[in-house]
Amino acid sequence: MRKKIVAGNWKMNLLDMEVINYLVDFNSKKNEIKSDAEVIILPATIYLDTMISMPEWDVKIGAQNCSQFNNGAYTGEMSAAMLSDFDYDKENLHYCLVGHSERRAYFKETNDVFAEKVNRLIENKLKPIYCCGEELTDRKDEKHFSLVKSQIEEGLFHLKEEEIKQVVIAYEPVWAIGTGETASSEQAQEMHAYIRTILTEKYGAETADSISILYGGSCKPDNAKELFSQPDIDGGLIGGASLVVDSFIQIINSF
Ligand code: 13P
Repeated sequence: MRKKIVAGNWKMNLLDMEVINYLVDFNSKKNEIKSDAEVIILPATIYLDTMISMPEWDVKIGAQNCSQFNNGAYTGEMSAAMLSDFDYDKENLHYCLVGHSERRAYFKETNDVFAEKVNRLIENKLKPIYCCGEELTDRKDEKHFSLVKSQIEEGLFHLKEEEIKQVVIAYEPVWAIGTGETASSEQAQEMHAYIRTILTEKYGAETADSISILYGGSCKPDNAKELFSQPDIDGGLIGGASLVVDSFIQIINSF
């Protein structure tokens, strides 16, 4: 059985007191969580310390980015080794995003850079959440399958079978991110099934069936249940709606 996951990507949002208030509020409502999905929060880097220091906190933590390099003169960067070392006594920092469309669009990062980031994370025993997804023009031109295929092939297919099992994939159609326009559950399921097919062709059915594939893009309390009920949708990568405790918990409870 593959893992069900609901992950909140906070992006570059919330200031210190807002983070503290969020955590206090979330913790006070923990009993409302009825789902057995794994919950992950991916805060801005500066708040990782606060998050992993939370007492009685069974939420997993992830970073939003890491360097493709091991260490050295890379001003402003944070290595996977630092992330891994940082959590030496708590063991709840498990994940890191790679390949988000905002990294592709604003920071011009490419699949070969993401492949290196994935390597650094796996070397340091962290799990990459590898994002893929097409722009609206790709879909209109019916290139969405081939585009997603190349993102996955170039970013992940150098991995050995044991390594790809450490990866979570997130399908996030760019046209649905922050726009309020969600992919229909049919469109999302179609792409998730396609991703699982290419994983099967490369690594075999057992491995492909063990990899969680999350949907992201305007996932909200009112559409999460239908999306999560699809056979190949194993959870969500939630942006805006994860910033509000009540809506994040409602999404978690959509499983
Ligand atoms: P929204 O849920 O705000 O559309 O963001 C999705 C996303 O990019 C998560 O990584």
